[in-house]
Amino acid sequence: MEKPFTATITGVGHYVPERRLTNADLEKMVDTSDEWITSRTGIEERRILGEELGTSYMALKSLESILHAKGLNARDLDLIIVATITPDMFFPSTACLVQDEIGATKAWAFDLSAACSGFVYALVVGAQFIETGVHKRVVVIGADKMSCITDYADRETCVLFGDGAGAVLLEPGEPSLGLKDFILHADGSGVAYLRQPAGGSLHPASRKTVEKKMHYVYQDGREVFKFAVSKMAEVSAQILERNGLVGKDIALFVPHQANKRIIDACVKRTDLPKDRVVLNIDRYANTSAATIPIGLSEAAEQGRVNRGDHVLLASAGAGYTWGSALLTWAY
Ligand SMILES: CC(C)(COP(=O)(O)OP(=O)(O)OC[C@H]1O[C@@H](n2cnc3c(N)ncnc32)[C@H](O)[C@@H]1OP(=O)(O)O)[C@@H](O)C(=O)NCCC(=O)NCCS
Repeated sequence: MEKPFTATITGVGHYVPERRLTNADLEKMVDTSDEWITSRTGIEERRILGEELGTSYMALKSLESILHAKGLNARDLDLIIVATITPDMFFPSTACLVQDEIGATKAWAFDLSAACSGFVYALVVGAQFIETGVHKRVVVIGADKMSCITDYADRETCVLFGDGAGAVLLEPGEPSLGLKDFILHADGSGVAYLRQPAGGSLHPASRKTVEKKMHYVYQDGREVFKFAVSKMAEVSAQILERNGLVGKDIALFVPHQANKRIIDACVKRTDLPKDRVVLNIDRYANTSAATIPIGLSEAAEQGRVNRGDHVLLASAGAGYTWGSALLTWAY
């Protein structure tokens, strides 16, 4: 069916905190080594947001950079979606906090929870409002302060995560540009392998939940690794195939950054040229919903993507959730 409008990304921005937590720092905190972390994950350092600040701060900064670059007023925005699993608080939503801080008085706002697939999910949701002609300017932000749910005494998880935010602006564009296709999936049986057990209605915060460290990320790393390798590669290959494309047609591949070995497997399966792959895991680690928009923003800043280029996004994360999106870059 012909869409009345195409949702195109017309602006990108990102924010990462200044404070660096290096592998050398972690060597002093837990029984690990720089050699183990870099060879098993590709991570060299990660950014950590100050204790006094929440996810909304980083989300706001990433949105401010877009408005500033485009000379736009926040009052021109129609909708703000924040993909996050580390909201400032359960309610109101982080998106509402951003809406107020930035002064987007005309916009409605909500959070979306799909963990590391949050940005791809939110991009697709936001695009629907542009494609139907309902809205003219939708902001999609992926932001997570993973340091607030990371146990820095657990070497199996604390080396993996960092804090950051990235944002995109969606506007109606020419039919040949913008979001071309997407594949999204969920399988809630993944709760067995990756979750934050407490803090919600099932296990509200109590002395017991704190003592049992139930407010931190719990992960069965090996299971999650197997899932991520197979599903991220599968949806990347599927979306290429059904759009008549092969790896070398893609100008930029922006995968979720959980482990460099997961990305390498995905690149091999889709036969993508290595120089087209966006990697920021070495500098930022896994920033959950923020990895893909940060990657897009940095790639655009570096002039790695041009109007008319095919861009492929792919993610896998808690839920389980996973998906891919194919875009034609608009500027
Ligand atoms: C977590 C992960 C890096 C572990 O790498 P791995 O190669 O699978 O390592 P294993 O789990 O097989 O553990 C190997 C050994 O290293 C040890 N180890 C784990 N973390 C370590 C660390 N930080 N430093 C040193 N050794 C560590 C383990 O205890 C284990 O020791 P053992 O063999 O004596 O039991 C990897 O499984 C992974 O990336 N999983 C997916 C993570 C992810 O994507 N999470 C977010 C969802 S998007």
